Amino acid sequence: MLTFTALALASTALLCGTTTEAKSIPRRNLPWNSNPLKAKTALLSRNTIPESFINATRGDPSTVALHIDTSDLSARNDTAPYLYGLMHEDINHSGDGGIYGELLTNRAFQGSNVVYGTLPEFSGSLIVGSENPIVPWDPVITGWGAIGDGVRLTLDKLHPLSDALTTALQVDIPLNATGEVGIQNFGWWGIDVRPQQYNASFYALQNYPRNPNDTATTFTLSLRSNLTGEVFASTQIPDTHLPYINYTQYSAHLYPNVTAPDSNNTFAITMDGAANAGKTFYFDLVSLFGETFKNRPNGLRKDIAEAFYEMKPTFLRCPGGNNLEGVSPQTRWDWKKTIGPLINRPGRPGDWSYENTLGLGLMEYLEWCEDMEIEPVLAVYSGFSLDVYGQSGPSYPPDQMQEIVDDALNELEFCMGDTSTYWGSLRAQYGHPEPFNIKFVEIGNEDWFSTTYPYRWAAMYNGLKAVYPNITYISTAYNENTLYNISIPAGEMWDTHHYEEPSYFLENFDFYDNWQEATNNTGVGVLLGEYSAIQIDTYSGVVNYSFPADVHIFYPSLVSAIAEGTYALGAERNPNTVKMSSYAPSLQNQNWFNWTPDMITFDANWNHTVRSVSYWQQWLFAHYRGTQTLPVTNTQGDFNPLFWVASIDVPKNQIYLKVINTLNASVPLSVDITTTCSGVNGTMITADSLDAHNTIENPNAVTPKSFTLDANQSGNGTFSWDVPKWSITVLQFDL
Ligand SMILES: *[C@@H]1O[C@H](CO)[C@@H](O)[C@H](O)[C@H]1NC(C)=O
Ligand SMILES: *[C@@H]1O[C@H](CO)[C@@H](O)[C@H](O)[C@H]1NC(C)=O
Ligand SMILES: *[C@@H]1O[C@H](CO)[C@@H](O)[C@H](O)[C@H]1NC(C)=O
Ligand SMILES: *[C@@H]1O[C@H](CO)[C@@H](O)[C@H](O)[C@H]1NC(C)=O
Ligand SMILES: *[C@@H]1O[C@H](CO)[C@@H](O)[C@H](O)[C@H]1NC(C)=O
Ligand SMILES: *[C@@H]1O[C@H](CO)[C@@H](O)[C@H](O)[C@H]1NC(C)=O
Ligand SMILES: *[C@@H]1O[C@H](CO)[C@@H](O)[C@H](O)[C@H]1NC(C)=O
Ligand SMILES: *[C@@H]1O[C@H](CO)[C@@H](O)[C@H](O)[C@H]1NC(C)=O
Ligand SMILES: *[C@@H]1O[C@H](CO)[C@@H](O)[C@H](O)[C@H]1NC(C)=O
Ligand SMILES: *[C@@H]1O[C@H](CO)[C@@H](O)[C@H](O)[C@H]1NC(C)=O
Ligand SMILES: *[C@@H]1O[C@H](CO)[C@@H](O)[C@H](O)[C@H]1NC(C)=O
Ligand SMILES: *[C@@H]1O[C@H](CO)[C@@H](O)[C@H](O)[C@H]1NC(C)=O
Repeated sequence: MLTFTALALASTALLCGTTTEAKSIPRRNLPWNSNPLKAKTALLSRNTIPESFINATRGDPSTVALHIDTSDLSARNDTAPYLYGLMHEDINHSGDGGIYGELLTNRAFQGSNVVYGTLPEFSGSLIVGSENPIVPWDPVITGWGAIGDGVRLTLDKLHPLSDALTTALQVDIPLNATGEVGIQNFGWWGIDVRPQQYNASFYALQNYPRNPNDTATTFTLSLRSNLTGEVFASTQIPDTHLPYINYTQYSAHLYPNVTAPDSNNTFAITMDGAANAGKTFYFDLVSLFGETFKNRPNGLRKDIAEAFYEMKPTFLRCPGGNNLEGVSPQTRWDWKKTIGPLINRPGRPGDWSYENTLGLGLMEYLEWCEDMEIEPVLAVYSGFSLDVYGQSGPSYPPDQMQEIVDDALNELEFCMGDTSTYWGSLRAQYGHPEPFNIKFVEIGNEDWFSTTYPYRWAAMYNGLKAVYPNITYISTAYNENTLYNISIPAGEMWDTHHYEEPSYFLENFDFYDNWQEATNNTGVGVLLGEYSAIQIDTYSGVVNYSFPADVHIFYPSLVSAIAEGTYALGAERNPNTVKMSSYAPSLQNQNWFNWTPDMITFDANWNHTVRSVSYWQQWLFAHYRGTQTLPVTNTQGDFNPLFWVASIDVPKNQIYLKVINTLNASVPLSVDITTTCSGVNGTMITADSLDAHNTIENPNAVTPKSFTLDANQSGNGTFSWDVPKWSITVLQFDL
């Protein structure tokens, strides 16, 4: 037995007086409540919220004594093997312009941003702003610029590249052109340039009357500074005779030898003005990739993917979120339009006000899982779309549900069918003959918004279960909506979402204790599919989704991690109920976003990828997961202000005690374990302020720190340690 050097106890007792609120239906903000163009304003220095507080914390800093029983094997439960995972949908330019490795913006002229809002005299939400002012969502030239005097860029519909990509960029070179002429792409608010291979490609065509003699063109591809013009890398595609009828794809590699000083860089395709004067070119699907995660073609941006991977997630819930549903049934995330050559992927209006290229498609999601060695939690469309005009939308009627069931069956066949099946052979043709193994399928998203889920869930569940009995199906609603009754069969799961105040997470630490019994959901598991602390505690206790600056949490702060971590402890100690959990949203492009806070923020510059305090909490808990929970008896004190859970990793012979102190004062903790330990050490996340958070300027303000405790044997068989104020700790006891 060991004794830890005791710290002096600073007793600054805090706040109490908590009322237990009725649990409300968790509501997620909808796209039309957001104003992304306005949100473009950089929030880099906007975390000036008043000191956050958790009024649900009991202000009692007296000793807590815990007994961890390792002797009674029957009292243990197996931990949930997939407890900590990832949720990803394309929001905040987290996919296009984010983790999807494409470095060019608007590469195939697919569609514009829109802004939703309200107008007097009209009910509900309307599109009140659009980049393409004539037809919202239609093509724009955003992100592109001409190089050279008089060079004219327009969008062209007469030379479609494919049935899916119907708009091209027309480039007219004037008759008096001299010097360098061409086009450039500004990337997703810049391009990161560093010594590595860049793979560039584009489709091009020339106009016959403008070059009837078919003189050759030499293209120069380059990465250059948008501020100084410095060229970091360039390569040529020489003496090209461009086709007049069928597009040809050209590709080349670029290798910069230097790291650019910033990411204000562009990708340019240029040529000699005099030699090409008078010509007209059409370009489409202009693409540039740097190195990707595990070198996957059409893969993931490496630094962001590595941040996810290092968190040690066990699953990925994808492709949404609202973004699965579409702002109309016709524009839902239709998996069939997300597979195969990029030239066949039309793109779609995303649910979060910007166009999706669908370059990050079904296969890319599955390969993402394969490359991270994690399980896909595949969300399938369930016959309900949100609508531009409000918080609801159209549902497929009962007699049309078979269409949606069949579509999901085809999707599963594409994922899992062998190569003798229609969809399985298509998967093989697209480069992955080996079937993927789908263990979890989520039916829809947040279907508590609709009253039609009972029949849609039943149709989908029965239809899919009959063919794929081994999959675990996840319902996105149970009986939250008083208008209906949904019964989830034992063995299946329920996805619940919580965007809440910190106090909510403390008050609901016990939410999953006896949840199955209390709600008549015997044997039903829980996916805590989206959760995060989004504002500090307010008097009303009601989350305000207009994100008022005085109470909103823009960046996950220590208070967020403490609150979310406490809730995660409540999940971890109920492994028979809570099987999976994931923070949401997971990613935020600092230049264009719909929603804060987010787990990881980034921009084009890899140096600006910031792992938040909430990320580190997820990281810490995911790294120390035992194989079985251990019974813990509190012989003195109770939950709050300390919260804890204990587990044992049987093969490693290690015990992990996770402890969170929510109080602004250290709390003495004594632990006795019914076995001897050879050593104790730990990792802790803490800071002096609950508002402490990580930013681009200070990305490591709050990170986990490891420490070793004085492992002095003590006579009474008890470890004691003062748990520092506002801290999240995992203690490791080596047996
Ligand atoms: C080409 O002609 C236009 C119109 O006369 C003129 O404005 C422009 O400067 C000329 N460009 C070059 C490169 O001489
Ligand atoms: C590059 O310069 C152009 C023209 O000045 C500007 O419109 C664009 O926003 C710049 N791109 C970046 C990434 O700064
Ligand atoms: C094409 O070549 C012919 C014969 O050499 C020449 O007369 C004509 O001017 C050329 N046309 C163009 C557009 O350069
Ligand atoms: C990079 O270095 C190689 C070999 O040193 C050289 O051939 C190449 O021109 C350099 N590239 C650039 C863009 O300077
Ligand atoms: C042009 O494309 C069409 C349709 O894909 C194809 O049938 C034809 O062979 C192509 N022609 C050339 C010259 O590649
Ligand atoms: C990123 O940081 C490195 C090391 O501090 C620096 O050399 C490099 O210029 C930075 N790159 C950018 C694009 O800011
Ligand atoms: C571009 O440069 C400006 C001025 O130095 C800087 O404020 C901005 O952050 C840079 N943008 C990118 C994308 O690096
Ligand atoms: C379900 O799993 C069982 C046991 O592993 C296996 O025998 C059976 O073939 C599976 N059924 C399907 C339809 O995959
Ligand atoms: C659970 O089922 C029992 C028996 O059908 C019923 O009396 C009880 O009200 C139900 N409880 C809940 C929370 O639905
Ligand atoms: C939290 O508690 C403090 C101290 O009792 C009190 O001043 C404050 O108003 C409370 N805040 C909320 C939002 O309840
Ligand atoms: C194991 O699960 C049961 C039933 O959910 C619960 O009563 C018990 O407290 C759990 N034991 C541990 C050590 O978590
Ligand atoms: C304890 O120390 C070991 C050996 O350095 C390390 O691998 C482990 O991650 C540490 N555990 C914690 C909880 O920090």
